[in-house]
Amino acid sequence: MIYLDYNSTTPLDPKVRGAMLPYLEHDFGNPSSLCALGRHAAQALVQARVELASLLGAKAQEMIFTSGATESIVTAFHCAMSAYPLKRHIVTSAGEHSATLNIAHQYAERGYDVTFLPLDTHGILSLDMLEEAITPQTALVSLLWANNETGVIFPIEKIAEITQRKNVSLHLDAVQAVGKIPINLATLPVDYLSLSGHKIYAPKGIGALYVHRHACYQPLFPGSQENARRGGTENMASCVALGKAAALAQDLLMTEMPRESGLRDYLEEEIMRKIPHVSRNGEKNNRLANTSNLRFEGIEAAQALLLFDQAGLCASAGSACNTKSKHPSHVLAAMGRTPQEAASSLRFSLGRFTTQEEIDHALNIIVPVITKLRLL
Ligand SMILES: Cc1ncc(COP(=O)(O)O)c(C=O)c1O
Repeated sequence: MIYLDYNSTTPLDPKVRGAMLPYLEHDFGNPSSLCALGRHAAQALVQARVELASLLGAKAQEMIFTSGATESIVTAFHCAMSAYPLKRHIVTSAGEHSATLNIAHQYAERGYDVTFLPLDTHGILSLDMLEEAITPQTALVSLLWANNETGVIFPIEKIAEITQRKNVSLHLDAVQAVGKIPINLATLPVDYLSLSGHKIYAPKGIGALYVHRHACYQPLFPGSQENARRGGTENMASCVALGKAAALAQDLLMTEMPRESGLRDYLEEEIMRKIPHVSRNGEKNNRLANTSNLRFEGIEAAQALLLFDQAGLCASAGSACNTKSKHPSHVLAAMGRTPQEAASSLRFSLGRFTTQEEIDHALNIIVPVITKLRLL
């Protein structure tokens, strides 16, 4: 199978698997217990936290292990909104991942005022609109760092400058940015940042929340673990895995970015050369190196994915979390695409294990499938 769906999830890196295995076997200690096994686990947890913090330019004590980005995002909302109980306004964008949209809608149902900013036709957020949307009532701005469907990267430095000037908490969903672009939180005024293990070659069900040392914190799960910031025994093997995955991502970042963008650009250029009426969704330059979102006029993405799958190619039509939904991509809708345009769009996302041979093979599947669908 050729796997071009890395934005939906990544395989486990064999080195990550190697690092986590002992914690599923003989190193089974509870990091909160005082015996030798427990102390060993506690040490491993310290190391994993340091490795993760280092990838982000953060301090180890600013990292909290969670069950994944969805929990991190919900916790960030909980922290920011309970810190300012009289401020009942949230600003986010209409192109966020469903993890953010769901919690934002839940706050709206509870009577909070939520602004969903639109994106422009290139998938970019207007900084003027953001600035205008923030009022004295705003407690939180929550935005993606990089969009999971188009790969478009938001201008986070400028966004953080606005939220800092307006004295509003900023949460970033950095799930797709972490490990794919350089991040340095030491120089960026961000209060909360969410990330997920299964997008950086660690297992599913592990993630982390960065909380700036001066940002308000209110646990969602009270308890003594994670320095009394998240109750529940740590998922040791997965925490170790996330630390190892972060260390690997840091080592590989500068070689992987140009390698993956080279393969991605080749894939796009060949598709556009061989198939007429294909256009790109999202800005060309300012996007993740691994992501390509293309619109193939006159086809149904769902049918193309079925034929790709039969031929051994795995791609997607947007976020994996929305594939069961009958509605075409809300991200493309936020960018002004019609439902028909969105329903003819496909996402190819590459990763660490993608090779030139795989891209050539993928092209040999994509071109005939699209041609066949157009004839039908
Ligand atoms: C941008 C983005 N945010 C949040 C999530 C949710 O992450 P998790 O699966 O760890 O809860 C995902 C995963 O698909 C994502 O791509």
